[in-house]
Formats: sequence, C-alpha cells, structure tokens
Amino acid sequence: MERREVTILDTGERYPCAGGRHILGAMASLGRKGIPSGCHGGGCGVCKVRIVSGECSTLAMCRSHVSVDEQAQGYVLACRAFPQTDVSLEVVGGMRKAMLKHGANASTQRKKYGFV
Ligand code: FES
Repeated sequence: MERREVTILDTGERYPCAGGRHILGAMASLGRKGIPSGCHGGGCGVCKVRIVSGECSTLAMCRSHVSVDEQAQGYVLACRAFPQTDVSLEVVGGMRKAMLKHGANASTQRKKYGFV
C-alpha cells in the first residue's frame, strides 16, 4: 500500500498517510493535532485546509463548508481528502487560531510567528 507524506505548513509537522486513509484520520492515528478535528464525517467543517502543493481525491463535500470555487482553488475537508501524491497544506478552518496557539508543535509555532 502506497504512503504519501503530508506536511502541515502552519506547524511544520510531517506524517505519512497510507493509501485509503484520509488526511485527518492518518494524522489522528499518529496522535498528531496540527489540523483541528471534529466529526470526521464531513459535517462540521473544522478540518478545512487548503492544499498548497500535491494532489488529493475527495469524497463529496458539503457546499456550505467548501464551495465549488473554493474546491477549484484547493480547499478541501481533511476528513474527506485522500492524498494521491505527497501534499503540503495550510489550515484555514475556523479553529485555525486555536490550533496555532495550542497545537502539537507549539514551540515551533512560537518561533515561526514570534510568540514568546
Ligand atoms: S472533522 Fe468535521 S468536517 Fe472534517
């Protein structure tokens, strides 16, 4: 089974994502927290990210969370997205600030964003 590498640009986290797993599930299975996590079923929208590089296939996404235009620009729900190549992404959902403040790699974020 092929594995793709996922990079969360906001935190610098990298993790493997095996074929058949969505981006959020692979992250959660490793105990990582760089992407805000909610329902894991496409219903809440908190896991919204933008794919900056790489390719993903997706399951149907609720248009109240990701519009057709947004999807064309690379926005996806991490719990509905399956990497087809290595991917880099940025977190864009409503909980982005909380993730940056309390995420799994807070010390890196402090350096990156100048927090003390
Ligand atoms: S975790 Fe709820 S939409 Fe992805």
